[in-house]
Amino acid sequence: MLQLDVMLKNAEREILSATDMKKIEELKVQYLGKKGELTQVLRGMSALAPEDRPAAGKAANDAREKLNQLFSDAEKIISDKAVKERLYEERLDVTVPGRKQDIGHTHPLTQVIRKIENIFIGLGYQIAEGPEVESVHYNFDQLNAPDNHPSRDEQDTFYFDAKRLLRTQTSPVQARVMENNAPPIRIICPGRVYRADEVDATHSPIFHQIEALVVDKDITMGNLVATLKLFAKEMFGEETEVRLRPHYFPFTEPSAEVDVSCWVCKGKGCPVCKYEGFIEILGAGMVHPNVLRNCGIDPDVYSGFAFGLGVERTAMAVFGINDLRLFYENDARFLSQF
Ligand code: PHE
Repeated sequence: MLQLDVMLKNAEREILSATDMKKIEELKVQYLGKKGELTQVLRGMSALAPEDRPAAGKAANDAREKLNQLFSDAEKIISDKAVKERLYEERLDVTVPGRKQDIGHTHPLTQVIRKIENIFIGLGYQIAEGPEVESVHYNFDQLNAPDNHPSRDEQDTFYFDAKRLLRTQTSPVQARVMENNAPPIRIICPGRVYRADEVDATHSPIFHQIEALVVDKDITMGNLVATLKLFAKEMFGEETEVRLRPHYFPFTEPSAEVDVSCWVCKGKGCPVCKYEGFIEILGAGMVHPNVLRNCGIDPDVYSGFAFGLGVERTAMAVFGINDLRLFYENDARFLSQF
């Protein structure tokens, strides 16, 4: 009896301090196994006097039951604890803010080009394209700027040979479109152009233009001005004013440089417009009769207007950027702001 008591006390202490199932299994073998402590005690009973055996047998059975109870209580505590731990480890906090996937977006220059395209598509224009490696014929000759014309010097560029160059303007697309299409013509042509310019805050040897060309019967300067006004209001806001200053281009007559009222100071004068109240954004004019004739269109029947807009300059205005080099550096910290 005393042996059983001591065994039970030891067993209880060990079982209660067990922290995992492996230890419990070990203890089960130790106490209840074939060579376990309880078995040893039972064996010892053969030495008892017959009249003492029933009581000893009952005590041994009680001890077995008690051990079984201790084991099953301990197993339950350990497995409950394991479940709790797993629930904690695998917890899912649905209130944690999601991790944002960074996806790219269109470049600010592309955004401006698309916006301008959409304005003109809304007016019934079609998009035209031409090659960046252009012929001298289309870049200058067809545009009424023959060999030795001073405007060729102003638009110096990279020549592959005497006849091929990197186009200095999108205007050669005018000639290509007129040669292949009968009026009425209404196109715009976005594209990259190249000039021998030093890089600074407002110049780049590679930049973008959008050319526009309309040819039909009875097209007048009035149509050009109305179109420019409508475009400027759509692009820069309803209150925008348009100003034309006389200028010279070989392929338009009359020609003008076109300014829009400063979107920052609304024409009052500020550092952005260099206190002029207006900012130049494009060149324009009525298509020169020689250009129409060169491209097989009769200038006595048809007339047209054209303009060429600087995309970088427009984008600087739209986004309030003071250095166009930022557009080309591909710094995501800059680009992701637009
Ligand atoms: N091609 C001219 C330039 O690059 C702009 C222009 C286009 C002017 C069409 C008049 C008509 O400066």
